[in-house]
Amino acid sequence: MKLLVTGGAGFIGSAVVRTAIADGREIINVDKLTYASNLKSISSVAHNPLYQFEKADICSAGTMVKLLAKHRPDAIMHLAAESHVDRSIDRPSKFIQTNIVGTYQLLEAALNYFNTLDGEKRENFRFHHVSTDEVFGSLSMHDPAFTPETRYAPRSPYSASKAASDHLALSWFHTYGFPVVLSNCSNNYGPYQFPEKLIPLIVISALNKRPLPVYGKGENVRDWLHVDDHAVALLKVLDYGKLGESYLIGGDAERSNLDVVRAICSLMDEAQGFGPHEELITFVTDRPGHDHRYAIDASKIRNQLGWRPSVGFEEGLTQTVQWYLANQAWWQPLVKERYSGERMGLGTSKRTV
Ligand code: NAD
Ligand code: TYD
Repeated sequence: MKLLVTGGAGFIGSAVVRTAIADGREIINVDKLTYASNLKSISSVAHNPLYQFEKADICSAGTMVKLLAKHRPDAIMHLAAESHVDRSIDRPSKFIQTNIVGTYQLLEAALNYFNTLDGEKRENFRFHHVSTDEVFGSLSMHDPAFTPETRYAPRSPYSASKAASDHLALSWFHTYGFPVVLSNCSNNYGPYQFPEKLIPLIVISALNKRPLPVYGKGENVRDWLHVDDHAVALLKVLDYGKLGESYLIGGDAERSNLDVVRAICSLMDEAQGFGPHEELITFVTDRPGHDHRYAIDASKIRNQLGWRPSVGFEEGLTQTVQWYLANQAWWQPLVKERYSGERMGLGTSKRTV
């Protein structure tokens, strides 16, 4: 299979690229290389004959049309997006542009390409739109988990832009008969995650003995899934998902933020041989509109596609902390170059330590 992946130099996209190549698939990675990308995350496959890279912006329909005509992929997996909620609160415009307009331009180009296909190539073509559980909004502790039938209720500029892109993708299925599958996943963690997201931010701050910023009281709950498990799930949805349907992917690992931060602190105590790192925990101004809880009912993908997570959260978190400690050359330049003058991850927002 020749798979065109958008956003393959990002956190999840790079895991998909590594997994798909190990699986013997041919990959065309289309990425604009924004601040969130890192080609080092795919250095292990960069010289593999199955891998090709195209630096391009999904918002440019003309470029997408040309790339599709050039590579003639069997499928597209669309991950390119602006992905950090805090940045969407501070400056929403790029989220509207890439996540909504970019998805629209890509759908137009892809439909145009699909309409040139015939026979088996047309029959088997798939467009997999990769999305998030955040489109469903905020749960209380007693609410049942999200299911594919849960009504969309996004509450941040990021989740609203992703919700809009999900609706566009499914409307291309219903209106134009374009073969779309959709997935909505919970919070990912693991190696190669940009150090503005909670887990790498806390590991790196703890290593540097800096305050560990916990928004509000740290009671918000996220469901955590190892990124390599997500990559396997995405390829299953691509291969076997029913067209026009959505698959919810989760890790069965709901944890409060404070529990996650404390778990990282004890792993750091062990790794460094001193502590307690918990003394660095600092409660800071809450994120505006902070969704309280996300939870996934993953029974559809488990029962219909036979997927379940293989890495438990405690095991995955231990490996992830060890990875960040052992791979400082991967993240040091990001922290130095991209955050000069700013506190890591807090950008221009009011959530100062
Ligand atoms: P990321 O921010 O790490 O990577 C995004 C990638 O997209 C980067 O390589 C970036 O250069 C590229 N990109 C951004 N704008 C582009 C554009 N206009 N044209 C081409 N490329 C562009 O994101 P991630 O965490 O890997 O998330 C990937 C996808 O998965 C996103 O669609 C996100 O909404 C979704 N998702 C993420 C999570 C999570 O926990 N991180 C959970 C569920 C779903
Ligand atoms: P994040 O990694 O930004 O993912 P998302 O907002 O997509 O869930 O944040 C995960 C949780 O951690 C979220 O509830 C916000 C919280 N958080 C903090 O408490 N402190 C931080 O410095 C960051 C970045 C996030």
